[in-house]
Amino acid sequence: MGKRLYFGSNLKMYKTISQTLDYLKELTERTKDISREEITLFIIPSYTSLEDASRQTDHGLCLLGAQNMGWEETGQYTGEISPLMLNEIGMDLVMVGHSERRHVFRETDEEENRKVKCALEHGMRALLCIGETMEQKEFGISPEILRMQMKIGLHGIDPSFADRIWVAYEPVWSIGVNGIPASAEYAAQMHDVMKDCLKEIFPDAGEQIPCLYGGSVNPGNARELISQKSVDGLFVGRSAWQADKFDALIRDAMEAARAAGK
Ligand code: PGA
Repeated sequence: MGKRLYFGSNLKMYKTISQTLDYLKELTERTKDISREEITLFIIPSYTSLEDASRQTDHGLCLLGAQNMGWEETGQYTGEISPLMLNEIGMDLVMVGHSERRHVFRETDEEENRKVKCALEHGMRALLCIGETMEQKEFGISPEILRMQMKIGLHGIDPSFADRIWVAYEPVWSIGVNGIPASAEYAAQMHDVMKDCLKEIFPDAGEQIPCLYGGSVNPGNARELISQKSVDGLFVGRSAWQADKFDALIRDAMEAARAAGK
């Protein structure tokens, strides 16, 4: 068997509770024959869907995550959701620092660091999202930006938590309807930067941390992206929001990865 591949989707502010439940039911049904030794599948729905989704879903087939989280257990933080609340409904994962959180809601690397730490301390996996803007890319500082986001985002984290850290590289210019997907070659270069930086931060465990690519992943580029040695998985938005299409994309990507010797 090849190495484990990661496939997941962030549903953003799409899908109501009933739509999310239907989607999860169909996705787990369609993909249940794929061995979970080979892949990790995860979905990150809106907050209102999480409790029902968690109850309905076989977490052995599909991990569930929250799109954001407050970094304190309790307190005067109107509008925030605490790790205790996510633990209570059996969340497996917390996504931290999605580009829309950073750029629309102005979150900082220091805040992402607190959230990552808090999710890990409460037994959940943390998916830290990083990525440079087009302007930063044009200045030729993408590696510096990624290194900074990882070094601050993962600062002071006990290495014993490293097996629950995942990182997604999502260049800001590649995300969403106006996004331009990164070429597989460029994604591979940035993933190499990430892998090196992770080894610096966690000398023993860094190599094992999965690095996913996200940003306009689609049926036309998934094969080439996942075939890159340093790309461990695909984090998909729009192309994953219909269960049949996501199932097809996963199978196609798996086949390409295995053909590439992964
Ligand atoms: P997209 O979204 O695949 O629709 O570009 C990616 C993301 O925001 O994670």
